Amino acid sequence: MVTYIEAGSAPYKNTGVIRLYAPEDFEGMRKACQVTARCLDELVSRVQPGVTTDEIDRFVFEFGMDNGALPATLNYRGYTKSSCTSINHVVCHGIPNDKPLREGDIVNIDVTYVVDGWHGDSSRMYPVGEIKRAAERLLDVTHESLMRGIAAVRPGARTGAIGEAIQTYAEAERCSVVRDFCGHGVGKLFHDAPNILHYGRANEGPELREGMIFTIEPMINLGRPHVKVLSDGWTAVTRDRSLSAQYEHTVGVTAEGCEIFTLSPAGLFKRGPNNVGAA
Ligand code: MF3
Ligand code: CO
Ligand code: CO
Repeated sequence: MVTYIEAGSAPYKNTGVIRLYAPEDFEGMRKACQVTARCLDELVSRVQPGVTTDEIDRFVFEFGMDNGALPATLNYRGYTKSSCTSINHVVCHGIPNDKPLREGDIVNIDVTYVVDGWHGDSSRMYPVGEIKRAAERLLDVTHESLMRGIAAVRPGARTGAIGEAIQTYAEAERCSVVRDFCGHGVGKLFHDAPNILHYGRANEGPELREGMIFTIEPMINLGRPHVKVLSDGWTAVTRDRSLSAQYEHTVGVTAEGCEIFTLSPAGLFKRGPNNVGAA
């Protein structure tokens, strides 16, 4: 059975209960999520051939410090970086390192900042220089998958409506949806109930209610959906080494639908510095 609780009176741990946040909590989330979105905007011009993911990670740490925000991933379950950087066939949880990015790479940068106890979790894809047409198409399909999932959010629908919208679209585009990772409740906690699956049927999962806050973060592959985790315990890659992409927003359920907390203030979310081709 699914239970819901006013967030203000819930214990500070994930007990499987779904928190319903108050309007003032939404204000806290707006602040945290906008620091995350501004950081992701700043990275657009910084992701270039020759730049290392450690340099990107250092920028994420310092941008947080300059804006009163702590990276939630630092020392999270043994993770020691301020961001995840997932390149090409890396699906998610790529660990920043000292290897330079190369022309034609596609990299997901995932940042979660904590501001006043509120978690703002978002990721985007960054093309490194010129990328191939197939990669470009994967970025388009993945971003559109996220936005179709978001469009399915309204009180009374079930979480499965989000998954159905994403899976139906991505598979019609001859791509596949990763099953091993999902979106999640977020707010006072980094990872909370409910799980938001990126596949499934509209009549599955708990009902969405006004005040819920969660992420939607589909990982879409050009090849098959299967992943494996490397021996570092974090890096998830496609088993067939096909390209993988991911976009993530944090959203709050409103009376009419939802509010996207992590939208880019500069309108930069998908393409290069001049935002050519932004939808
Ligand atoms: N930000 C990721 C998410 O979207 C979680 C990263 S956890 C880490 O949920 F430890 F790998 F950083
Ligand atoms: Co997330
Ligand atoms: Co994230």
